[in-house]
Amino acid sequence: MKIDEAVKILNQNKVVAIPTETVYGLAAKIDSDEALNLIFSTKNRPFFDPLIVHIESKESAKKLSLNWNDACEKLADTYWPGPLTIITKKSDQISDLITSGLETVGLRVPNHPLTLDLLKKVKTPLAAPSANPFKATSPSRYEHVVAYFPELPVLNGGDCEVGIESTIVEVKGNEIVVYRPGMISLNDIKTTLGSGWNVTYGESPAAPGQLKEHYIPSTPIISCTGLGIGEVIDYLETNESEYIENPYIWNLISTPELTARNLYSTFRSVDQGDFTSLIINIDQKFSENTKWHGILNRLEKARTLSLQKEVSSNKIVSQSKVLPSKNK
Ligand code: TXA
Ligand code: MG
Repeated sequence: MKIDEAVKILNQNKVVAIPTETVYGLAAKIDSDEALNLIFSTKNRPFFDPLIVHIESKESAKKLSLNWNDACEKLADTYWPGPLTIITKKSDQISDLITSGLETVGLRVPNHPLTLDLLKKVKTPLAAPSANPFKATSPSRYEHVVAYFPELPVLNGGDCEVGIESTIVEVKGNEIVVYRPGMISLNDIKTTLGSGWNVTYGESPAAPGQLKEHYIPSTPIISCTGLGIGEVIDYLETNESEYIENPYIWNLISTPELTARNLYSTFRSVDQGDFTSLIINIDQKFSENTKWHGILNRLEKARTLSLQKEVSSNKIVSQSKVLPSKNK
């Protein structure tokens, strides 16, 4: 599909899937309630989960914000276009349908040439959540979107460079709260802003969209921290043997950037094989490096079981989550 065709469809109050550097989005013009409603029905997304608004420039973002301050300015200048969503007080151009009734809106300039071009041509900001059914793994490739929604018009922008969703921060005066970690890390933001700004992790009091279970593939994910792979196999053989009839083992030994880029496509290719689990082996030290936090956050939400070596007792602690079904 060409950009002009995508413009036409959006102007007909319909939705189009668009490429971004993080994951594909399902886009609607912010002034079309009809198209915004289509986002929710297509994804089967509850109305309590607010949408991110995509614009082509910082200037357009400022027009949608009532409390744009120096921190927003610095963050936008440093990271846009790029994988950072800034939450600020919304102007009345942003409807309650987009923000689930919140007074704030998430804004982002995505870094993908096709979508930047599309935004310039449409001349209206685009609300876009990730282009997956509610709770499913986000699509980081064109083929993922087509597999989820065969009927949907999709602008093909190839594979997403970043691979996991944007970092979300709310700017409230001097307080910068990171609600969703991503590849722009907490430390990156601290370094960019310097002194005078308080940057912390926090749970959004008003964004129930951040669910504990999310990004879930149908093959159970077992995340293992601080164990050798032999210990993992021994433990599972004794305690959870059904998982290791035919496991796919992924040792995270690469950079966080490459791991993020391959994360969701690995979930998907394991789903397509005949594997009984995806065992992901994580270095204990990763949690000390905020560059890994986005990936660890997605794994925590997607996993069925976690195994962790307790340093003091040298015991393996297992935690399981009840997920829909182990069977495909
Ligand atoms: O990288 C991304 O952010 C991708 C691409 C398409 O831009 N989009 C994305 O959207 O991940 P979505 O809808 O899957 O996740 C956005 C999350 C929501 O679940 C919600 O929790 C949070 O952003 N959010 C949106 N507006 C908010 C607001 N006003 N306050 C707090 N959280 C908000
Ligand atoms: Mg999503």
